[in-house]
Amino acid sequence: MGAAILNLFVLLFLIFSSHSFPSVHSQQFPITNEGGGIDPTKTPVYIVHVEKPHGISNRPLRLRDLKNWYMSFLPNATLASGESRMVYTYREVITGFAARQSPKEVEAMESLDGFIEANPEKEHYTSTTYTPTFLSLNDKPSNTLWYDSSMGAGQIIGVIDSGISPNHPSFNDNGMPPPPVKWSGKCYWGNARTCNNKLLGAVAFRNGVYPDPYDNDGHGTHVASTAAGNFINNANVTGQAAGIASGMAPRAHLAVYKISFINPSGISVSTDADIYAGIEQAIRDHVDILQMSIGFVKYQLYNSPIVIGSFAAITKGIVPCACMMNMGPTPSILANDAPWILIVGASTFDRKIMASVLLGKGSELAGESAYQPGTFPSTQIPLAFPFDQLSTVKSTGCHLGELKKLNLRDNIVMCYRFGLKDDERGRNVLISGGKAMILLNDMPEGETTKAYAHVLPSSHLNNTDTNVIIEYYSNTANPTAAIKFRGTLFGINSAPAVATFSSRGPSLTNGGIIKPDVIAPGVNILAAWPRTVGPTKSIFNFLSGTSMATSHVSGIVALLRNKYLNWSPAAIKSAIMTTAYTLDRKGNPITDEYEGTSATVFEQGAGHIDPEAATKPGIIYELNYYDYVHYLCGYCKSNSPVQMIIKTKMNCSQVKTIEPEQLNYPSFSVSIGGNITEVQVKRKVTNVGDAGSTYTVDVKDPEGVRVEVTPQTLQFNQVGEEVSYEVKFSLKGGLPKPAAGEVREGRLNWDSGKYYASSPMVVTFV
Ligand SMILES: *[C@@H]1O[C@H](CO)[C@@H](O)[C@H](O)[C@H]1NC(C)=O
Ligand SMILES: *[C@@H]1O[C@H](CO)[C@@H](O)[C@H](O)[C@H]1NC(C)=O
Ligand SMILES: *[C@@H]1O[C@H](CO)[C@@H](O)[C@H](O)[C@H]1NC(C)=O
Ligand SMILES: *[C@@H]1O[C@H](CO)[C@@H](O)[C@H](O)[C@H]1NC(C)=O
Ligand SMILES: *[C@@H]1O[C@H](CO)[C@@H](O)[C@H](O)[C@H]1NC(C)=O
Repeated sequence: MGAAILNLFVLLFLIFSSHSFPSVHSQQFPITNEGGGIDPTKTPVYIVHVEKPHGISNRPLRLRDLKNWYMSFLPNATLASGESRMVYTYREVITGFAARQSPKEVEAMESLDGFIEANPEKEHYTSTTYTPTFLSLNDKPSNTLWYDSSMGAGQIIGVIDSGISPNHPSFNDNGMPPPPVKWSGKCYWGNARTCNNKLLGAVAFRNGVYPDPYDNDGHGTHVASTAAGNFINNANVTGQAAGIASGMAPRAHLAVYKISFINPSGISVSTDADIYAGIEQAIRDHVDILQMSIGFVKYQLYNSPIVIGSFAAITKGIVPCACMMNMGPTPSILANDAPWILIVGASTFDRKIMASVLLGKGSELAGESAYQPGTFPSTQIPLAFPFDQLSTVKSTGCHLGELKKLNLRDNIVMCYRFGLKDDERGRNVLISGGKAMILLNDMPEGETTKAYAHVLPSSHLNNTDTNVIIEYYSNTANPTAAIKFRGTLFGINSAPAVATFSSRGPSLTNGGIIKPDVIAPGVNILAAWPRTVGPTKSIFNFLSGTSMATSHVSGIVALLRNKYLNWSPAAIKSAIMTTAYTLDRKGNPITDEYEGTSATVFEQGAGHIDPEAATKPGIIYELNYYDYVHYLCGYCKSNSPVQMIIKTKMNCSQVKTIEPEQLNYPSFSVSIGGNITEVQVKRKVTNVGDAGSTYTVDVKDPEGVRVEVTPQTLQFNQVGEEVSYEVKFSLKGGLPKPAAGEVREGRLNWDSGKYYASSPMVVTFV
């Protein structure tokens, strides 16, 4: 089952050829301060939600009417500084605006008729590590989804990120169809050469002005090329081999909305007002998919521009894809966890760029490094560990001050990976006379290793191997080690596994809907980069993060959407979730790289995305606007947050309200305990397979829980037919009752013999 996806995404990852490089000096990362983020010295920007202008709520709102209405909430048009108060007027994402005001002025506004809520804007981040390297390309498509979907032709992926490097060869438009007629966006650079049939448009939003959308960071270029990079013929990045590479949907169009800017500390950051503006424009431009590898984990669900902007998007049939963030392995620090967004966690795939550590005459530990100096002799040299020289509990991770106290000449130096960036760590070891470096993972980093292009011969070991080498070092009189570079290996059987850094559920703010929805490749992902990196001046770069996992999924969504033009965002998500797989290449349950144990639903969601299988789900769990309104009324328990999200006056006591577990979602999450000894939930599935099909249920009960499904058989006479069923969860008699806080998992599968739709179930005991 895993083979199809592996074929598909291997396209992007070019084979790394192991050969010798000249001695490397660290690549200085050219950071242009673009003044990103919130300037605390300025009047704050508030996001203001209001009702629709009275009297005209039944006809489409003209921007001019809206603007006048919004202005009526402000004391006047300009600040004392002469700066305009109004930053953005929104129509699609919210009924409201972004404006510069003092907290006092906001207070005055609260009493005005039609006001709903105002919040000071906050900052969002794209947190990814970058790992420069250089490569050559390979492989050909061997995938029917590509051909069935015309490789995504006609779909527009709106990338809400740090901009784009428009002239990167990944964005050439060879073989690209012209833009669809619905496209109405703009290109900042004009349409000659920079924008083309691949990159339809690019604009930037920064505090109410529209600067150059060029990507000074790299993140936006990377995710755009992973989602929809075109084929690059005869790409020659190593100065050696040539080949073909591409993104997931090579014929899909890209529309770029830059909202992330580098702040004075060199970090890419974006604000609520700009994110709303970017999504607003993407909706007006008629994109089909929103690719959003961005978020802020401390948001309440209903105070996030991505959550609210995505709701507006689904009402237009646009599929929002967003990342889970990189805050693992601590549970429940995640972002973008609304049920209408497709949320993606990160996993490994079956490629390793191997740098083996040989211990004395003994064992070989398989670490990773993207820098593969073939000339480096794999002879044993003394092994040094700054750790035991210190009185502190732990090494500081090869800080210069710590290393300077030691004589490391011609040693191979072990470093824990905290405190510093890996390139700085490598430089410190090099400056201190070290010959090579071994990077160690402690428990919080688990078994995830990264292939960096280090400045000296290195190997990054997982937590298990870290324990082995420390044991060896501690029990050996004159410990020695060597590094042997073994190049790129495919077919690593432990893949996929959930990356330690991938954020985990359970979500604490969405009423228990399981997040992430799925996992996808997000470790050591190779894709386009705006600057050259490494000694061979590669224009591709390795990055790891849930950002990279999300861009795989948004490309795959473009393929599915092209194959099934009338599927709703919920249908596409359902197809992806119910066909995801949960076994690794060895046939064992997918593991979590944190502790090496089986991944739970809060780590892998429904499982690993399988694009080929997602084209044949058989049945789907459909959700429409009203389903979400009923969920929101049940969950929010008050009218204002619902109004802010749906942009319409709402009195929840006049509509049906449902508990979150009753939402027609393709997964199940219920709580049992106290005086609640059983929970009954309803689901409705739609036949998108064949007329005259029969599905029978197959349930793997969560331990200690009885699951009864009625009916046990679903009979469909026609395509498009809907059939409902009920699931009753109750405590199994005769067993000790699980303690409060315990979580038990199961699966509910519908099998027609031809189609198989599988959903995770989780029962939390309270
Ligand atoms: C608008 O109001 C601010 C005080 O809130 C004041 O400083 C400013 O001068 C006013 N602008 C105009 C054009 O009246
Ligand atoms: C790759 O580029 C180098 C110079 O940049 C050139 O010498 C070499 O012939 C090229 N190789 C291929 C296969 O195109
Ligand atoms: C750690 O890496 C080694 C490679 O030396 C591998 O055999 C092992 O399976 C990894 N451990 C886990 C738990 O992933
Ligand atoms: C909402 O509807 C209920 C029941 O019809 C009514 O009693 C209540 O006043 C309404 N609330 C608002 C704010 O209109
Ligand atoms: C269950 O217990 C809670 C208090 O723990 C109480 O408020 C509620 O009414 C009880 N429900 C039923 C159905 O007994």
